[in-house]
This record gives sequence, structure tokens and C-alpha cells, in this order.
Amino acid sequence: MSQQYQHDVLVIGSGAAGLSLALTLPGHLRIAVLSKGDLSNGSTFWAQGGVAAVLDDTDTVQSHVEDTLNAGGGLCHEDAVRFTVEHSREAIQWLIDQGVPFTRDDDPAHDENSFEFHLTREGGHSHRRIIHAADATGAAIFKTLLAQARLRPNIDLLEQRVAVDLITERRLGLDGDRCLGAYVLDRSTGEVDTFGARFTILATGGAAKVYLYTSNPDGACGDGIAMAWRAGCRVANLEFNQFHPTCLYHPQAKSFLVTEALRGEGALLKLPNGERFMPRFDPRAELAPRDIVARAIDHEMKRLGVDCVYLDISHKPAEFITSHFPTVYERCLSFGIDITRQAIPVVPAAHYTCGGVMIDQHGCTDVPGLYAIGETTFTGLHGANRMASNSLLECFVYGRSAAAHIVDHLPHTALPELLPHWDASQVTDSDEDVIIAHNWDELRRFMWDYVGIVRTTKRLQRAEHRVRLLLDEIDEFYSNYKVSRDLIELRNLAQVAELMIRSAMQRKESRGLHYTLDYPDMLPEALDTILVPPTYDD
Ligand code: FUM
Repeated sequence: MSQQYQHDVLVIGSGAAGLSLALTLPGHLRIAVLSKGDLSNGSTFWAQGGVAAVLDDTDTVQSHVEDTLNAGGGLCHEDAVRFTVEHSREAIQWLIDQGVPFTRDDDPAHDENSFEFHLTREGGHSHRRIIHAADATGAAIFKTLLAQARLRPNIDLLEQRVAVDLITERRLGLDGDRCLGAYVLDRSTGEVDTFGARFTILATGGAAKVYLYTSNPDGACGDGIAMAWRAGCRVANLEFNQFHPTCLYHPQAKSFLVTEALRGEGALLKLPNGERFMPRFDPRAELAPRDIVARAIDHEMKRLGVDCVYLDISHKPAEFITSHFPTVYERCLSFGIDITRQAIPVVPAAHYTCGGVMIDQHGCTDVPGLYAIGETTFTGLHGANRMASNSLLECFVYGRSAAAHIVDHLPHTALPELLPHWDASQVTDSDEDVIIAHNWDELRRFMWDYVGIVRTTKRLQRAEHRVRLLLDEIDEFYSNYKVSRDLIELRNLAQVAELMIRSAMQRKESRGLHYTLDYPDMLPEALDTILVPPTYDD
């Protein structure tokens, strides 16, 4: 029997963005935080590098803003960049106050009056400004925020709950557009429950799982983007998919990222013959922004017909490597690679979705009562290429500003009346799950082949044709069979893939992460690709 729940705030997603919003809200509000699997299944847990922020007295807001604008290929919104960077110090202080164990600066030359935590460097940053917890920053932040959330009796942390769709007044045939909550599959009962809420937050992360090779955990299916689109929200700049230059290349090493901080601390990229190649592509060499490094690696791999390139930090003292990069060291060692003596085989893999649901500085979407925060969103911060470690910062800054906006709007927002139950009367159990598995594979493979690091119009047209066939098939499946996590994710992934392809086809230039052989030059004017959903009457 399906259940009805009512909360003041429903947060879909339990990563950095969702937890920081929940923890910033006052303790008298009833809050539900939903996770599709275990609470730690999101991307936050896997983030290695750190959080970019202006923390050292020798650094400035202006410098961080300029670096972000430079990396963003002319497409960052300066107001969003400035807003985020100006709030960076207070966001980090909030994390320190929550108890996040950031790595301290133990350099004997450390000046007592300067910032007490160690700051590392990453591509595109002209200063050391990445605060981190060794090379497992996401795990340290996630564990701390989760422990804090567990102490709050007003926060229900609910695992194995997969949001199917948002409930809006429009969907229910009522006057108005407001979001009233969501239908959510409880994987333990197989029932779709109804969550009514005064405010609903999408904090579901990105969509890198749309690609065959990705650094992301399994859940990165663009759920929030797809649900928001179906609910009537605009999305922007979904053609900009960031490929992380260095993921471990090993048959058993699924999705393992080798943090950019290695390059920040001096690691060099090399060809199989030991030759460095990045200086040929950019004067910043290994510390060029990610789009440049990933494309250079892709170029060299194709030119030489090799399966990977190598990242070498073995010239640094072993003690430095094992203390700064314990996670990478241990993981590589488990595959027989001792990074204190050997170079690491690496390849680029899909990593970050720069576009997403359009929001303002409070996380408000186009649908009243619906907020979105974190990688699900388009804020204008990342432009055509996200600068490393700006994204965790965005989660905290926007998570906290959305919480403040909700508090301001509490007095005028009532709990919705009891909502209709999910209608499962027309569907049966599927006896053809092979279709779901097949479509998952097909989608991820053609996205990798046709909508990858280097694109052409013909490849995009092929991808568009295929995604439309898949969408029809998935729609039919969805109308006839009971929902499962795999089906919900596939439906979302296919929807987001279609939006990505459509966005890529609209961009008749190469800029940042979107590189097409048919339009290799950048147009003089930098414009966002904004897609507007059809209204329900269309
Ligand atoms: O390389 C890394 O540690 C990743 C950082 C990021 O994606 O911001």
C-alpha cells in the first residue's frame, strides 16, 4: 500500500548541496532528504581535489573571478561568478564550523599569521586556493555533514527512495504552476509514495552517466534535470560536458579518478615513450584548464593509436606522495601500480555536467516552490568549461542561499492538501527487463562515440536519430510497466541525452568543452543555449 508523507521541505538528493541546504534550515522545519540508494551513493563522496575559495591573504576575489571567467570560454555570467566567489570564505568557515577535517598546513616555513589550512593548486587557478582533506575531500565533507544531519531530529534521512516525477498544480489539472512535492519509488516496498511539501529541492547531481566512460558513481543520471524539464523548467548549456583528463586506465578500475591536484603538485603528463606533450598545446602545460588538457590527451591518443597516456609524479619524494595522495596511492597500488616509482596510465572520462536547470541566485527555478542546487543546475558560474573545484563551492553557496530564501518565504507558503496517490492501475510487472539493459548500453555508447570530446554535425544527427527512437521505446515501456530504479534512471538519462544533443546541434561554433570539426572557430558573441520546455497544451 503506497504512503502519503508531508514535509515542509523535500530535498531530493543527499550530497553536498542537499545536506548543506538541510543543515542551514531552522530546526523547527520538518525536512525529508531522499537518496536513491545508500546516502553516500552520490558524487560528493568521490570528490578528491577540494573546494576552491579565496582564503589566503595573498589571493583576491578578483583573481578567482578572473580565473573562472578565463576558464569559462567567455560564457560565464560574471554576476554569478562574483556572487559565488564573494561567498566562498563564509561557506568554508561554515564547513570548518561543522567539523570538516581539512588538511592543515604543516610546512615549517608556514607563516603563523597566514591561513592555517593547506591550499593546493589545480588547472586554471593562478593561486593556491583549493582547501582539501588530503585527496578525499568529498568523503570528509560528506561524512561530517551527514553526522550533523543525523543529530537533527527534524531531518528524515530516507534511503532507497527514487523520485519518479514532480507533482505540480499543472500536472494535477489545477490552476497555477506550483510544485507540491514528488512521487517517489520506495525500493523496499516497490510502491510509489506521495511526498507533499511546501518547498521541493532538486539536488540530484549531474548526468555524466550518459557516457560509457565516466568518473561518476552509478546514480549520476540527470534525474533532477529531466524531472525539472518535464515539470516546465528551462534548461541551459547542456552541450558543455566536462571530461576529466585523468581517470585511471585499468580493466578493473571502474570510474577511478586521479585528482587534478597531482598536476597541481607537479605531476607531468607523458606519452608511452616518456615524452611530455602538454607544453606543445598550452603554455600552462599540465595546469591548463581541463578542456584543453582533455582534448590534448584525446588528440595524442588518436594520433599515436594508443589506449592511454601516463601521469607521472614519481620524481617527488615518496613521503610527499603518500601523505598528500593516500587515496590515489592505495588505489593504484591495489592494481599493482606504485605511483612513487611508476607513472599512472590515464584516459579522459566524462566528469561534470556544466549546464542544467536554470536558477537564480536563490536556487529558484521557473516553477514556483521548486528549487534546484548543485550540479543539477545552470547558474552561469561555469560557462563553457568549469574550473576545477568551483563546483563543490557552488553547492555550498547556493545550498545556503536557497535555504535563506525558503526561510523568507515560509510565512506565505502553506502545506499542500493531501495529494492524489500514484496511479498504478494500468501497469503490470515487466517480463522484458532486457530491453532496459540494452537501451542503457546503447544510449551510453552512442553518446560516447557521437557526442564526446570531439563532435561533428553528422555524428550529432546520428545521435539525435537514435535518442528519439529510444525515447519512444522507453515511453511505451514506462506507460505499460511498473517503475523500477533502472527504468526511472533510463527514462531520465535518455531525456537529458536528448537535451544535450539538441543543445550541441544549436551551437554552431567551438567554445570551451563543445568542440566540433564542422565549426572549429569561436563566434564573436558568447550566447547561452537555452531550451524551453513545451507547455502541457502544446
Ligand atoms: O581532479 C579532481 O580532484 C576533481 C576536481 C573537480 O572536479 O573539481
